[in-house]
Amino acid sequence: MSAINDVTDLANDGEIAILTLNSPPVNALSAPVRDGLADGFKKAIADANTKAIVLICDGKTFIAGADISEFGKAPKGASLFDVQNGIENSPKPVIAAIHGTALGGGLEVALTCHYRVAVPSARCGLPEVNLGLLPGAGGTQRLPRIVGPQKALEMVTSGQHVPGKQCLEMGLVDELAPEGKLRESAIAFARKVLAEKRPLKKVRDSNEKVEAARGHAEIFANFRKENARKFRGFLAPEYNIRCIEAAVNEPFEQGLKTERKLFLELVTGSQSAAQRYVFFAERQAWKIPDVPDDTPTIPVNKVGVIGAGTMGGGIAMNFANVGLPVAIVETKQDALDRGLSVIRKNYENTAKRGRLTMDDVEKRMALIKGSLALEDLADSDLVIEAVFENMDVKKDVFGKLDKIVKQGAILATNSSALNIDEIATATKRPEVVIGLHFFSPANVMRLLEVVRADKTSKPVIATSMQIAKKIGKIAALVGVTPGFVGNRILAQRQREAQKLVLEGATPWAVDKVLYDFGFPMGPFAMSDLAGLDIGWIKEKSKGETIRDVLCEMDRRGQKTGAGYYDYDENRNAKPSPVTEKILADFRAKKGINARTISDEEILERCIYPMINEGAKILEEKKAIRASDIDIVWINGYGWPVYRGGPMFWADTIGLDKVLAAMKTFEAKMGEAFKPAALLEKLAAEGKRFGDL
Ligand SMILES: NC(=O)c1ccc[n+]([C@@H]2O[C@H](COP(=O)([O-])OP(=O)(O)OC[C@H]3O[C@@H](n4cnc5c(N)ncnc54)[C@H](O)[C@@H]3O)[C@@H](O)[C@H]2O)c1
Repeated sequence: MSAINDVTDLANDGEIAILTLNSPPVNALSAPVRDGLADGFKKAIADANTKAIVLICDGKTFIAGADISEFGKAPKGASLFDVQNGIENSPKPVIAAIHGTALGGGLEVALTCHYRVAVPSARCGLPEVNLGLLPGAGGTQRLPRIVGPQKALEMVTSGQHVPGKQCLEMGLVDELAPEGKLRESAIAFARKVLAEKRPLKKVRDSNEKVEAARGHAEIFANFRKENARKFRGFLAPEYNIRCIEAAVNEPFEQGLKTERKLFLELVTGSQSAAQRYVFFAERQAWKIPDVPDDTPTIPVNKVGVIGAGTMGGGIAMNFANVGLPVAIVETKQDALDRGLSVIRKNYENTAKRGRLTMDDVEKRMALIKGSLALEDLADSDLVIEAVFENMDVKKDVFGKLDKIVKQGAILATNSSALNIDEIATATKRPEVVIGLHFFSPANVMRLLEVVRADKTSKPVIATSMQIAKKIGKIAALVGVTPGFVGNRILAQRQREAQKLVLEGATPWAVDKVLYDFGFPMGPFAMSDLAGLDIGWIKEKSKGETIRDVLCEMDRRGQKTGAGYYDYDENRNAKPSPVTEKILADFRAKKGINARTISDEEILERCIYPMINEGAKILEEKKAIRASDIDIVWINGYGWPVYRGGPMFWADTIGLDKVLAAMKTFEAKMGEAFKPAALLEKLAAEGKRFGDL
């Protein structure tokens, strides 16, 4: 065995050369890896004794992708195109031996090999779309030539990682090797290729599948139509589709040029910049400066949940999904029965969609034990309270828990907005009290706000972050402040939305602006979905707000067939003349003359105060970094990922612009628009939130 460079070795097994990459952690295509590949293949090709070449990787995976830390920097080392040309034009057959994942550039390298062998646990994919990109190294031109345009469209626009067996079925790999026997299997396969004198199969020259699709524009039209909702607002899926179209309609070399051109547009565009930022922000969010990685954690083997309502049930599912037993406590048998049956129905629906077996459903249900006695939580390692949002009720529950639950356990609350420091005073162990703020539906939504109270200990924080990861959430650590980070910012938008409709905008106009910005729905559609009567008390309602009036008329949102909008039997929303009349009456009563409000004003009024509130949250150190606020809004509130979150978006448009608009609004409408000191400071210094 001889070293080509630090990360590449070349060895021989008789007439078969084996080129091995070893660049931990994931053999990404960094400059040294590309150099090693270029030189290694040259050497093997030049060696007269070598008849075929196997490309394999050490460690846990085949080449798992590009080295994204190189993005935007000056190119160094051999280019990926040179490497690929060297492989594809090799006069000796090249076999890629794949384990772990072959992703992005990794799969694009494998696609230039003449054959591919993989273990069943290997997975292949082109996930560039998730960073707002497309596979820019021939992937969009070669993939459809092997798997056909339809499968290629699905793969490049979803970024899915396709398991080995499926890869074999679609022809993406030529043979499956037994698990753990990849190297010998690939060598044996190479010998077979030689013995049978198989041709040097260049994917670029296999035109059968793309030619069969030529002239069938409906393939693409249908695909676009079927996925219109999913792709809305995103550039990358459309550009990926255009590349597959080019593979079908253009000769290979021309298709490569199209791919290159579209790749460059994406990689220099704002959407991909935002999506790459989010990729790193998600990783950053786990790091807590004063809670280092080696902070001791508390073993969590048993979880308790209090309340089997909307949130408690979903929360319990998260833990059962990862095999942890959960005790769930209610006050009354019927509430408990209802809660458990909702959980079961959720699991059964997942099973109906083929994503769980009925056996799994039973296993998970068996992990969730209902109870009417808090005493049953005595031996829990983590208890999460999800009872009514009422301070007295929560304090009562925590006071009881303090007497019941074993020492060392974590006592968490799922409160959406209450002061956790105050809840902690109900116990003699405030250091184990923390907020774990799940989002609805708790078994689906990825975000978890981990709320650090004044006295919360570091092991409790470290354990909470660890458990969040274990149940597949993305966590952001935030501080105690009304509504924490997400809802505190949301309150700004909701207030302005309400003011805008009183001033003359229609709810549908406001919703449309925010929908077009990229949110899944606007504030009024969201209220109708959630139910207008959340927190509304009939006896206390005095018709003072639009919401009061709507609720009094039993227009409580989608569930009653009407709210701000009217709904048909399929829950399709229609602008409502009733709501317009209520608004007109309100304006008349308050002496407001309705005015025409531009889309621009709607957007700025709704979003700039959110950014401003984010700045205040940073000033008050209720979030660690601006990017954590972005993570909260992307994963909890549907902020479009291609706009990178409110703080990133503010940086993109310029803080001076945000500040100037806030000042103009402040002059006209007062206090609510008073710029945060941090916003003023950064704007004055020509800086961005990202510079903090
Ligand atoms: N619904 C949401 O969208 C959402 C989102 C995030 C957080 N939260 C928070 O989660 C908590 C629960 O909200 P929810 O929407 O699930 O409410 P819910 O009314 O659906 O459920 C609350 C449940 O708690 C039970 N309960 C009340 N007191 C109890 C006690 N002493 N012991 C045991 N059970 C008790 C009730 O019987 C009820 O089933 C609240 O603090 C809320 O602010 C709600």
